[in-house]
Amino acid sequence: MGESPPSTGPASSGLANPAPAGAPGAPAQLRISPELLAKLERVAPLPSVYHELRALTAVRTTDSRSISGALEKDPVLAGRVLKLANSAIFGFRGKITGLHLAVSLLGNNNVHNLTSVLVVMAQFRRPASGDFNPAEFWKHGVLCGCCATVLAEHYGYSTRDDIFTFGLLHDLGKIAVYENLPDEFARIIKLNQSGILWRKAEHEVLGIDHTGIGALVAQSWKLPDDFVQVIRSHHLLPEGTASLTDQRKFLVFLGNVVAHMAEGRKRDKKWPSMKAEFLQRFRLDQEGLVRLATKAFEDSREVRAEFR
Ligand SMILES: [Fe+2]
Ligand SMILES: [Fe+2]
Repeated sequence: MGESPPSTGPASSGLANPAPAGAPGAPAQLRISPELLAKLERVAPLPSVYHELRALTAVRTTDSRSISGALEKDPVLAGRVLKLANSAIFGFRGKITGLHLAVSLLGNNNVHNLTSVLVVMAQFRRPASGDFNPAEFWKHGVLCGCCATVLAEHYGYSTRDDIFTFGLLHDLGKIAVYENLPDEFARIIKLNQSGILWRKAEHEVLGIDHTGIGALVAQSWKLPDDFVQVIRSHHLLPEGTASLTDQRKFLVFLGNVVAHMAEGRKRDKKWPSMKAEFLQRFRLDQEGLVRLATKAFEDSREVRAEFR
């Protein structure tokens, strides 16, 4: 049994979170220009193997042979799935020798998650430039995914089987801007270095921040609606956790905060003390939080090491 779920309250952080252009109820303050939108639409579509696997894994009764058969059509992807399947995240370190075994042991959801991760990462190829390193960006995503997974376990949420991918992709909008709008990205970095908060800088340059951009990209990729919603609201604490979607929003929101906490520790080797109000709200104590964050950090080590 996990801990009793924390009470969530009104949104606690940052700017108003715009819906993407064209979405029902998109607010008037959404000011992204048609030119920028056109450039963002250059994000390549996801390959057909992703959609085939998604359709297969969505059906509970699909047998593992059909799934491994679909994966085999893309040997590079299949090899990477095997490598990740053997990482500490899934607890089968070094034991999974073939694709069929990987699918049987990991289950449809995890296989879908792994392929999503790998396929999405392959869409972005721009190397490190200036003060932005995509490897660090993906390491943060992996850590957030692991934090969200550990938290799901802790609170006993039923989303623990698939929350990793939601965490991994939460900042999708940032890498989409880096890849497709390099001049605008450079201006955002400059503003941020002059002391302006990242999301405020994004609003100044783009008229929208990475939560809105990420939701647009997820929509254009036809990812399930939960991805669009979680990405759009990852800096906002949901009102409650009754629905699966709200559980995902909650876990990614908190997973992102804990990931930043763990990353902060990497630099000064000391865990930052979280405010009593924060701990109380999430029914955690400092020691328990450090224990969860340490587990997530360790679980993610192997996959993070893939990015150099
Ligand atoms: Fe973010
Ligand atoms: Fe983040």
